[in-house]
Amino acid sequence: GGSMQLGWPVSIEGGDGAGKSTQAELLLIRLKATGVDALLVHEPGGTDFGEHVRRLVKGDVERSPMSELFLFEAARAQLVQDVIRPALEAGQVVVTDRYADSSLAYQGSGRGLDLADVRALNHAATGGLMPDATVLLEIPPDQALARVDGSDGSDGRSDDPEQARFEQEPIEFHRRVAEGFRALASEEPGRWFVVDASAAPDRVAQKVWAIVSSLLVLRGISTDA
Ligand code: TYD
Repeated sequence: GGSMQLGWPVSIEGGDGAGKSTQAELLLIRLKATGVDALLVHEPGGTDFGEHVRRLVKGDVERSPMSELFLFEAARAQLVQDVIRPALEAGQVVVTDRYADSSLAYQGSGRGLDLADVRALNHAATGGLMPDATVLLEIPPDQALARVDGSDGSDGRSDDPEQARFEQEPIEFHRRVAEGFRALASEEPGRWFVVDASAAPDRVAQKVWAIVSSLLVLRGISTDA
């Protein structure tokens, strides 16, 4: 509806190996199949500048936690200005695969930066633009990382040179990130929807769709095309 504040229905969050990208893609297919003009964006990245930052943060270049935070925020600022805001103004439904909450969980809870600092930079980078809701795909870090490195019998992706920095952090780091996400979800239960991501992908997709389709109704967007 025209009176709705600029924003989008949902961001998808979770630790490495939670299956966010798969779920985001399934969601996009579902949105398009129901006639919704939808756009998927993945952080970090989505702009030329953001892709450079993505390579930098995923690589092994030494950096302090605060420098790392600024890199993610820089990529986010560019993405909001060049992609997210114009898409929303054009009436598209945006789905974000990670967004500002990832910085709170990874650079805040994971790296130990002051959450108030992270919030301030999130606000500066986004201009306060936030999704209506955030789906947390929750899976125990041990299980998630086994998916990532293929030790659970899956293909994994450990041979992908891009999958360096964060997935090689110790399990304790990933536990802090997971705790951070959980804390965010319990502090703001009206925005967060926690979904058990250890279930089969199509079950998870059904739950995500149930959440997102009800949010679209609230935005006055029809999904019965
Ligand atoms: P990516 O391959 O996009 O991870 P995923 O497939 O899990 O989305 O790599 C992005 C990595 O960057 C991921 O490990 C999470 C991390 N990250 C942060 O630490 N802070 C942030 O603000 C964002 C957006 C990502």
